[in-house]
Amino acid sequence: HSWSGEVHEVLSPICIKTPSGLKRKVIGTYPLCNEAEAAEALKAAVTAYNNGRGEWPTMSVADRITCVEKFTHRIIEKKNEVVKLLMWEIGKSHADSVKEFDRTVEYIYATIDALKDLDRQSSKFSIEQGIVAQIRRSPLGVVLCMGPFNYPLNETFTTLIPALIMGNTLLFKPPKHGTLLHYPLLEAFRDCFPKGVVNTIYGRGNKIIPDLMKSGEINVLTLIGSSKVANELKKLHPKVNRLRAILGLDAKNAAIITANADVKLAVQETVLGSLSFNGQRCTALKIVFIHRSLADVFLNELSEAVAQLKFGMPWQSGVALTPLPEQHKPAYIQECIADAIAHGAQVMNENGGATNESFVFPAIVYPVKKGMKLYTEEQFGPVIPVVPFDDLEETIEYLIESTHGQQVSIFSNDDEEIAELIDPLVNQVSRVNVNCQCQRGPDVFPFTGRKDSAEGTLSVVDALRSFSIRSLVATKLNENNKH
Ligand code: G3H
Repeated sequence: HSWSGEVHEVLSPICIKTPSGLKRKVIGTYPLCNEAEAAEALKAAVTAYNNGRGEWPTMSVADRITCVEKFTHRIIEKKNEVVKLLMWEIGKSHADSVKEFDRTVEYIYATIDALKDLDRQSSKFSIEQGIVAQIRRSPLGVVLCMGPFNYPLNETFTTLIPALIMGNTLLFKPPKHGTLLHYPLLEAFRDCFPKGVVNTIYGRGNKIIPDLMKSGEINVLTLIGSSKVANELKKLHPKVNRLRAILGLDAKNAAIITANADVKLAVQETVLGSLSFNGQRCTALKIVFIHRSLADVFLNELSEAVAQLKFGMPWQSGVALTPLPEQHKPAYIQECIADAIAHGAQVMNENGGATNESFVFPAIVYPVKKGMKLYTEEQFGPVIPVVPFDDLEETIEYLIESTHGQQVSIFSNDDEEIAELIDPLVNQVSRVNVNCQCQRGPDVFPFTGRKDSAEGTLSVVDALRSFSIRSLVATKLNENNKH
């Protein structure tokens, strides 16, 4: 597409020293689409789909797989470039950036295998009451795909690849932080897929996305991001009943550490669960309930463990805490901590909450209670709110009242206690983790959420189903019908 000429300057979370203090380094620019250019991209996707009669939706599954394999070989060649950009654009450590890249490639290969299985199943016929049926999976149309900044490559591709391989055409908008790293992949999209099948749009979402939704030409909205944005976008679609939404949204995953827990294990998993990638994961533990009898020992051990974490630049070895890409985040985290302190809580660890331009040292805040921001808001950053409880019923009540419903972690060494908790919890969230942190993987497990946390289900196989519809070819068996 032609560009309007307006560009966005990309500020890295990596800062440079200037006479007036630390400043985020400019690491590149990207062109911003205007509304007309986004509309042009939509037209290209609609034309390529051509009401299901385009080259891509009618291509055989085997040929589509060949295109995706070719694309995968091409992106593997770009690994070093993409990993470097993950570090500079979103501040992810080298080890985690490599992990994100490798996980993405593995996910694509697993998707290909899963599709081959699905395709084998649809080549089988079943006969019921004199009718022979063949069940197929058909594409849905034009998919608008938007990934998040915290996994700009991996979580984009966990929706983009299944949507693509099922025969849909795409409009793809990379996240604001994590756009440059898609640049090295653009040529591969162009070379491996027919014209108009993948259309990348860069721009300010609030400027270009509303018109796309209002057009009524989007058949599937897939977004890993905020519940508020997803709701607003869905409402803009003129025929919302014809829109499928596959969404991964806000979460406030809780850890429940009972009186019978192994405190060492709970501390270790809390650090990983709350602070991996500085707490910027939708699956992060964002609130910790500790039985009052264990609170002192847990808080001491947690403070010690946090003090051991190494802060540094993404390329330094052994680094656990890195600069944050969102400019507003340090101030927001400080605001949450100040609010908790004003309501009677304290920061329990040395340097907890200390900030500079793009860095926040993790804060352990205790005792957090109802009425504080940290009790309900998804902080998406390095703060561990800790709530003391006396009766497990209080933790179940918290989850019932919460608007979120993604996951929970229980820590206990008492099997009976665990068994009694699982039923009430599994009716509030979509995954209960026992003696381990919350997480999305392994990627073959279903990934979803209840309430405002998700719509539809992702995973290697679930995503193939989510981006397609079952259709049936039914033939009546009778003497005249030799078909
Ligand atoms: O940010 C949300 C991601 O789905 C988290 O994935 O649990 O593998 O880090 P993860």
